[in-house]
Amino acid sequence: MSKRVLVTGVAGFIGSHMAEGLMKRGYQVTGMDDLSTGEKRNIPAGIRFVKGDVTRPADLKKAFSSALAGVFHIAGCASTIKAFDDPESDLRTNTMGTVAVVQACLGKKVPRLLYASSMTVYGHPEKLPVREDSPCRPVSYYGISKYAAERYVLATGARRDLGFSFGATAFRMFNVYGRRQSLTNPYQGVASIFIGNILRQEPVKIFGDGLQSRDFIHISDVVRAWILAFERKAAIGQALNLGTGMRISVKRLVDTDIRAFGLDPARYPVKFFPVRPGDQRHMQADIRRTRKILAWAPKMPFEKGMADVISWARDEASI
Ligand code: NAD
Ligand code: UD1
Repeated sequence: MSKRVLVTGVAGFIGSHMAEGLMKRGYQVTGMDDLSTGEKRNIPAGIRFVKGDVTRPADLKKAFSSALAGVFHIAGCASTIKAFDDPESDLRTNTMGTVAVVQACLGKKVPRLLYASSMTVYGHPEKLPVREDSPCRPVSYYGISKYAAERYVLATGARRDLGFSFGATAFRMFNVYGRRQSLTNPYQGVASIFIGNILRQEPVKIFGDGLQSRDFIHISDVVRAWILAFERKAAIGQALNLGTGMRISVKRLVDTDIRAFGLDPARYPVKFFPVRPGDQRHMQADIRRTRKILAWAPKMPFEKGMADVISWARDEASI
């Protein structure tokens, strides 16, 4: 069987790490990206790169031109705020782009598709930690488009009329952090936004009271889980939470970052702004199903993972 896989979103934060992890594991990688938020320098050396948009069948045709053992569909617009500003663009990229990837998989009889879903599908959960069988009632436009895409992926995986075996898995990822998450794009994840602010000695902005919390998971734990899922039949047909099971407040994140730079949180300028639309108050993953199905556990402690990002960010700033 072909050892070639396709990673969409390969010039972005999660996609670039995924491609590296897959190559280390011995896979040949084709990567696709339209470079809308991703950067050329993130694309790992040694992959076959196709510059293209997942919503365009002609571009997908190029990316799917070799036989593929699987597709890691990670391309998307990650920002809840951008989705409120331009819902049609969000729907086009996140939902229609995913439908187009599913169609391309079916056209080429690709046996396996893994999809980058999000904890935003849950909206405001009734109970924490949130389990995969909890109601999905997204409260952001982004959460809606990611949930629709997740359903297209899993409902296609459940079809029995395809004439070939097509296995789908969706990861409901919580807040992923790590090297290469953009330090300059205010629409990327909060962990790197704060680090970028402190590096540039700008005030940190907190939307709300800062007591809202998130489950931050390091990129190394994410990549390991996806590759295990690709290689395990038990992951087929599943939507799996990908978090650590722990919750950290935004205020604690700010204080950890300020301290890691050797500064005093009590003296660093922090400005408070109103809560943004669609913001979830608290999120924490129940990861029992993921642990069991993948025989996986998160390994990277938060403080250590964050120190590693800060060390990378300092090097970036000195370039
Ligand atoms: P990112 O912006 O760094 O990466 C997304 C990549 O997709 C970029 O390189 C971008 O250029 C590319 N892209 C966007 N639209 C495209 C299109 N139409 N065709 C081809 N490429 C396109 O963001 P990220 O944080 O790495 O997020 C990757 C994916 O994971 C997104 O789908 C996001 O919704 C999902 N996700 C992210 C997180 C997180 O915490 N970062 C959590 C859950 C889910
Ligand atoms: C993030 C990801 C989303 C992913 C989801 C899954 C991004 C941009 N968002 O959503 O793609 O699907 O995790 O877990 O990567 N905040 C501040 N100040 C800032 C920026 C943010 O206070 O400067 C607050 C936000 O209001 C929010 C929290 O920090 O309460 C987390 O924000 P953020 O990382 O942007 O997005 P999520 O909504 O958690």
